[in-house]
Amino acid sequence: MFVIEEFDIKLETEKIGRNFIYTEEIDSTNSYLMNREFNPPDGTVVLAEKQSKGRGRKDRTWNSLKDVNLTFSILLKDNRHFKTNFNLINFSAALSVAISIENLYQLRPELKWPNDVLINTKKVSGILLESASKGEKIERVVIGIGLNVNQNIFQGTYNIPPTSLKLELERHLDREILLAELLNNFENLLHKTRLKPDWILNEWRNRCRMIGERISITDGEKTITGIFDDIDDDGFLILRQGTQTQKILNGDVSSA
Ligand code: BTN
Repeated sequence: MFVIEEFDIKLETEKIGRNFIYTEEIDSTNSYLMNREFNPPDGTVVLAEKQSKGRGRKDRTWNSLKDVNLTFSILLKDNRHFKTNFNLINFSAALSVAISIENLYQLRPELKWPNDVLINTKKVSGILLESASKGEKIERVVIGIGLNVNQNIFQGTYNIPPTSLKLELERHLDREILLAELLNNFENLLHKTRLKPDWILNEWRNRCRMIGERISITDGEKTITGIFDDIDDDGFLILRQGTQTQKILNGDVSSA
């Protein structure tokens, strides 16, 4: 059971999560907030105990057991946030997950480009950012976050081995406190993407252990290998091959 009052008492945001929709079951919290016929206020958060069609990046599915994890989406409509590259919004979301885990549980999560959160090399959280535009104008951005909290076992096949906070800490965690901490951090970081983007980029770099290492990047049928040199000011990956560097926009990164 998710006790909304327990979450609400810890929420310190101005906008994010102030309109909070809790649901037992839904197809996907991202799809729900992307529906143009539905126009809730900026900062609305939808949390579902179970998604029947939870989606991940690259048309993958996001599987999460009922009642034990956090699967939710955040709606942004304020176009002040849309001037930076969306990679920075992704980084803010991943950082808010990592920083919340650090603050509450003293673990040291690792960030993986573009927007995964790992603990002990296993994936604990993934982020799916989607946007809708009318002509040139971006009308909404939806940031979906799946965070494995109290799940005990993972069955099936995964791109990266999964884990949960409970498996790492060997204790049951309070989802209400975690969600409030996460949204508090996210609102803070979201303002920083506009005001202090270099701070976001550096905090992200500090938690990405693959920078400087040899990596492979797979996008569809294509795989390239090189050194993960850095991320650029827009959050794209810079891959070095000998004396040449190239900017990577998309793909799955793994150690090579
Ligand atoms: C990924 O790692 O590929 C991204 C996973 C994103 C999953 C979350 S769960 C809440 C929201 N609703 C969805 O359908 N997907 C995102």
